[in-house]
Amino acid sequence: MRDDILTVTGLQAGYGGKPMISDVTFSLGRGEIFCIVGESGCGKSTLLKALLGTTPGLRITSGSIRLEDTELTQLPDAERRELCTEKMGMVFQNPGSSFNPIRSYKKQFIETLKSHGRYDKDAFPHQVEEAFGKLGLNDVKRIINSCPYEMSGGMNQRIAMAIMLILGQDILLADEPTSALDATIQKQMAEELRHLRDVSGISMIIVTHNLALAEYLGDRIAVIYSGHIAELGDASEVLNRPVHPYTKSLIDAIPTLDGRMPTGLPGSPPMTGPEEKGCEFCPRCPAVCDGCDALTYSMRDIGDGHYVSCPYAKGGTA
Ligand SMILES: Nc1ncnc2c1ncn2[C@@H]1O[C@H](COP(=O)(O)OP(=O)(O)O)[C@@H](O)[C@H]1O
Ligand SMILES: [Mg+2]
Repeated sequence: MRDDILTVTGLQAGYGGKPMISDVTFSLGRGEIFCIVGESGCGKSTLLKALLGTTPGLRITSGSIRLEDTELTQLPDAERRELCTEKMGMVFQNPGSSFNPIRSYKKQFIETLKSHGRYDKDAFPHQVEEAFGKLGLNDVKRIINSCPYEMSGGMNQRIAMAIMLILGQDILLADEPTSALDATIQKQMAEELRHLRDVSGISMIIVTHNLALAEYLGDRIAVIYSGHIAELGDASEVLNRPVHPYTKSLIDAIPTLDGRMPTGLPGSPPMTGPEEKGCEFCPRCPAVCDGCDALTYSMRDIGDGHYVSCPYAKGGTA
């Protein structure tokens, strides 16, 4: 049986009373890397922020988030924030934003540990050495005394992961962790994320619009459109045998190096969030048919943990 660390059921959240994600259901296994993909504005960051629960103005309006045995949506805000920051770490799109650029890592590590009530002066040097070692960071003394502005984006990301290891956090949430990096560094970063999971058993939810990265990194993947999950399943299954027209269109929109232009995906996603009735992808869907505009959102199991929201989509193993 799967050992899930986080279970999200029917989650709806948004700003100012308007839902931006809805009916979001998935679970995260211990040590699993779960990727969330979709175009800009589809609600990927909103979903991550709703899980972390530290964004002012973002309200959960229904559904459940269970972190191990605790129902997060029932906790008072302060308690929830405390639990989430103890258990979850976040790596942001802009690697610089995790740190103050002109304050040494050492000082910032100590401050972070103190704020979690976890600073032990005698243990600290050993903890840093151990965490850096796991991440393949040599020259610990020089790095820990440096300031973030002196380091590359990739290095800052790795150092942000070190603090997670020292804090012993169980879940890493990463929002476009490689987007601000050069293509060659992106690959290195992806390898490091995988390495981090392998050495620490940490679970990860990674938001990206890079499908190749999601296939490389993800055990499972959710494709999100206008705040609804369109397709979910094993990452290589979903990306190699996509069933939802949106997943297929996303894959067809990837440029290749053979000189041909990709088919592309005309238009852009609505910025209005999930609708109560009708599939939001309808206006752009190459397979649109009668009845699409009257659908009520639901996920259909097509076998082996592969789910799709489109009732007309053919494919899968069931
Ligand atoms: N602070 C906010 N207040 C109001 N609307 C927001 C806020 N942040 C994001 N949104 C809206 O929520 C929708 C989803 O955005 P987001 O989660 O950032 O998408 P993604 O990360 O997939 O690009 C967008 O329509 C966006 O305009
Ligand atoms: Mg985003």
